[in-house]
Parts: sequence; structure tokens; C-alpha cells
Amino acid sequence: MKQMYIGLLGCGNIGSGVAKLLGEMADSFRESYGIAPVIKAILVRDLTKTRPDYVDVSLLTTDKDRVLQDPEIGYVVECLGGEHPSADWMCEALRLGKHVITANKMALALHWQELHAAAAAGQAQLYYEAAVGGAMPIIKMLHDSLQANRIDRLTAIINGTTNYLLTRMTDEGLGYREALTDAQALGLAEPDPTADVEGEDAMYKLSILSSLAFHRHLPVQAIEREGMTHITQDDIRNARELGYSIKLLAHATQTEAGMDAYVSPMLVPLKHPLSSVKGAFNAVFLHGHACGDMMIYGRGAGSAPTAGAMMSDLINAMRQAAEERRLSACFEQAEAPASMLQDRMSAFYIRLAAQDATGVLAHIAASLSERQIGVKALLQPEERAMEGAQITILTHPASEKSVRAAVAAFDPHLVQVMNVLRVEANEG
Ligand code: HSE
Repeated sequence: MKQMYIGLLGCGNIGSGVAKLLGEMADSFRESYGIAPVIKAILVRDLTKTRPDYVDVSLLTTDKDRVLQDPEIGYVVECLGGEHPSADWMCEALRLGKHVITANKMALALHWQELHAAAAAGQAQLYYEAAVGGAMPIIKMLHDSLQANRIDRLTAIINGTTNYLLTRMTDEGLGYREALTDAQALGLAEPDPTADVEGEDAMYKLSILSSLAFHRHLPVQAIEREGMTHITQDDIRNARELGYSIKLLAHATQTEAGMDAYVSPMLVPLKHPLSSVKGAFNAVFLHGHACGDMMIYGRGAGSAPTAGAMMSDLINAMRQAAEERRLSACFEQAEAPASMLQDRMSAFYIRLAAQDATGVLAHIAASLSERQIGVKALLQPEERAMEGAQITILTHPASEKSVRAAVAAFDPHLVQVMNVLRVEANEG
């Protein structure tokens, strides 16, 4: 029986999860495809660390070349994470003709062109189903299943940590800090949550999804990014009263002026399917000219969902090699031209702390109407005892530049701007 040799770079949660699944599936793999998958070497930092019993410790090495330079190893599963040295080692493996399977969204997003060029040079394939959306097969869906569609819009919840925090804040009335401390205690948020709460993780994932959906590489530098640490209970309550939830969304649109992409907290209509995505779940909602609106939903992180997605990549890779069939997974992409979009249209949520004085509302209304910004709803709850008044405005769709200018023109002695958030246009 033909043996296919695999090398693992890293053996933490994900790497050991892959080793476990591979052990469990080896028999069915032999039966179905007539191939025996064999792990030949596992790169680790520390040889003395205790490993789960399904990891064969005789395979552990601290020498990366036992994986990268072994000509028998045809498949490299990268489970190290981070940008370097992961990106360099993946490029090296690909150039040497080894197929690479990874979940590393950071290395992929930052070295997209380089990795694809290395794959083309080595006639090898790069697989990354687990990099976005964990268990959701969104990469295969965009790459294969939806290829007959022109996708013009993609809106996604692709960071489980922030969705979990916003869900606790919404459903239990917790403040951001309280929700974060709880999530950290439960191991659901990292000790340093910056990459998640500042939208960096979602930005990397959006770069990957957009590059596939729109057939042009969308570099991370072209993505506007805003985190969610400034969202308060007041925002969540106001949004709910107006018929919305608040979600950290990753959004990309193909417009005639170029690609418009951002990660930011947004108001989502309660009847939109993304509003019902709770906890650490992920979902991608998109629109294609043939498929119309569609949404995929699932677990976006965790050892088993991620290792499962990597395993199916590995199975695909080995099956394709066995059938001597090639996926068109490696391709060189032109970079999306810098967006010529001068402005974008959106409805906005504006929360203000204002002086409780005559003329303040007129001042706010004047600044908005001068710039042709229509008001759809206005909240000024009486029961929230505070000095001054809290005013929340929901605008009609308006030019973003005009809204930012109107807000900047408020007299700071009369009005303090607490939060300005975009509102998702699709009612769902
Ligand atoms: N930190 C990520 C999230 C997990 O919270 O979704 C993996 O990308």
C-alpha cells in the first residue's frame, strides 16, 4: 500500500488534535483511498514537555529540517501560528514541492502573494480551510462551490471572542471589562485580547475571504479597522430599543470604484440572520448574482473544529495526489487596485452626551441638516439619570464623510460624542 508521509510543524492544541484525528481515521483512509498516512516528524520547541498519549514522542524533533528537508515528506501541516518563522517555513516547504496545510490567517494574509508564488514554483498546493471560520467550509465554498457566482458583498462575524463578549454584554447586561474578565477565566479570550478586540484577527480573515470572493488580493492595508472596546451598555440598550443588535462585522463590497473593506462594530437589524449569531459562533453572509443571499454558520475556533478542518484539507490533498488530479488552489492574483471610493453611504448611529439646555437639539439638528443628513429616529431616555441628556440619533443613509464632518462640527461645550457606529443596510 502506498504510504504518504506527513510532517507537523508544531504540536500544541491544534497539532496534537491533527495527530489524534489522523490516528482515528487511518483505517478508513486506507480502505477508502488505498493510502496509508504516516506522520514522520513533528517539530516542537520543547522535547521534555508532556504530550497526550496519541502523540508518538519518538517523532518529536527540534530540528525544522527533519520536516522541511526530508524528501519523503510530501505534506507539511503548519500549526505554529504567528507570522515568522511560519510564513518562511511554509514558503520553503512549498518551493520544495511539499503540499502545505495551515490554519495561520496572519501568515496567510500578510504573505498571500509570496505563499502562492512559492506554491506555483514548487508545483505544490496550499490549503487553508481552517484559517477562517474554523469548522465552516467557507474557503472551499468560495473557491469551488460558488465559482459561478459574481460575489458583490460579504458581511461576516469571523471573530468568536468578540462575538462572545458582545453576546454576554447584550444578553446579561455585562460591561465590556466584566465580560472580558469572565471570558478570560473560562479560557475563551486570550490573556492579551488585543488581536481579537481590536479587530486584527477579523482583518486577516477578511483579507483572505475577500481575495477569494472577489478574485483580487485584498491586502490588509486596504482594510479599515476599528475594534469594539468602546462599546458600552448604553450603546447596546439604545441599539436594542431601535431594533438592532451590535456586532463586530467584517465587511467587503465590490464597487465600481474598487473594493471597500472594513472591520468595525455595527448595528445589525434584529431580523437580519447575523443578529442571531450568538456566543463564539461565526457566520458569513454574502450575496452572489446567481445564488442571491446566503449564509454559512458554525464554530469558528477551538481545537477540534480547527483540527477537523485541517484534516479534511489533508484528506483532500492526499486524495488529489492519489487520483493525480490537481486543484487549482494555487494561483497568482493581481492585487485589488486601491479603492477609488471617495466616500461611502451608510446609516449611522450617533450617541451623544449633551447639555440639558435650550437650543442644544437645534444645534445638533442644524449641523446634520446643513449636510443633508436625515434623522430616522431619536432617543432621549428620561429614566437614565445623569447630568445633562443622553441623545441617540439614527440617521437615514448618508455620506460617511458628511456624517463625520457633522459630528466633528458639534460644539464640544454643548455636545460630547460618545460613539458613532455604522448600521448594516441589509434588513435580512
Ligand atoms: N481568536 C479567534 C477568534 C480564534 O476568537 O475567533 C481563531 O481564529
